[in-house]
Amino acid sequence: MTAKNPYIPMPVEISKVIDEVDTQDIKTFRFTFLNKEDEANFKYMPGQFAELSIYGKGESPIGIASSPTQPGYVEFTIQRAGAILPGLVTAALHDMEEGGKIGLRGPLGNSWPIEFLEKKNIVVVGGGFAFTTLRSLINYMLHQDNRSRFGEITIIYGARTPGLLLYKDELSHWQKRDGINTVITVDKGDATWKGREGFVPAVCKAVAPSPKNAVAVICGPPIMIEFTLPVFFELGFSKENILTSMEMRMKCGIGKCGRCNVGYKYVCSDGPVFSLAELEELPRDF
Ligand SMILES: Cc1cc2nc3c(=O)[nH]c(=O)nc-3n(C[C@H](O)[C@H](O)[C@H](O)COP(=O)(O)OP(=O)(O)OC[C@H]3O[C@@H](n4cnc5c(N)ncnc54)[C@H](O)[C@@H]3O)c2cc1C
Ligand code: FES
Repeated sequence: MTAKNPYIPMPVEISKVIDEVDTQDIKTFRFTFLNKEDEANFKYMPGQFAELSIYGKGESPIGIASSPTQPGYVEFTIQRAGAILPGLVTAALHDMEEGGKIGLRGPLGNSWPIEFLEKKNIVVVGGGFAFTTLRSLINYMLHQDNRSRFGEITIIYGARTPGLLLYKDELSHWQKRDGINTVITVDKGDATWKGREGFVPAVCKAVAPSPKNAVAVICGPPIMIEFTLPVFFELGFSKENILTSMEMRMKCGIGKCGRCNVGYKYVCSDGPVFSLAELEELPRDF
């Protein structure tokens, strides 16, 4: 039997499109596989990504937003790229509707290190729309088969405005359920907002999660990361116990073309998930 060619995309169909934000430039696309065999072979873990391709436009790496505990489909939350010049693939996707067909290659990259996270308290920190693979991790940990494998789960998630929060239904569900402490914040509320206001780093400082047997999983815009890390160092989290996910320009996604390397690491295949201790070993050219 010959090995499956990793460059050949699998055909998938858009089965659902969800408008996530009031600016209408971020949508969650649910895809179902057109071949049952592809669906069975697509075994992923939270933190991995896939290459989505549109004929005549190109391919884009996108983090997987659904959890493997949600069988039958795979979801991606995608921002229409490019304020001035539209991003080729993401703009074409945003113009597609349910029933549209595209190609999907993956799953690619490493995942959030589930075995390392087991039996630990998990602090998930997200900012803006970089919450997608964190949502996958949260839904994975909260699943009834998995919840007892992890300690306390704290989520701190922020967006600039209430209208820019992703997954609003899920957030309010998590806020109501047991076994998870969900703290949502916005930089600036509106007339209807009754929740917390404040930047993510300040909220992390106020919530002050204990570093004892804990791992922080942090994703967000660079400015948020820059101001959040010192808070976690001050709280006593070590660099080994702070994880993040990197985004780099990519081509093959499988460690062959050299497009995404930082020093001796390929972000596509050694990452995109790294601990802060691992990132510190790399040259500062990213
Ligand atoms: C591991 C990983 C995970 C990711 N996860 C997500 C995710 O979950 N959701 C998500 O939305 N994105 C995600 N991204 C980012 C996503 O891959 C990019 O936004 C996407 O590839 C853009 O593709 P595109 O074809 O739409 O844009 P492109 O056509 O490649 O353009 C990208 C940008 O470059 C600009 N540009 C293009 N051509 C030119 C030019 N000639 N001159 C100047 N500027 C130009 C465009 O205006 C645009 O801003 C992820 C990236 C990585 C690496
Ligand atoms: S994208 Fe080709 S090596 Fe990473």
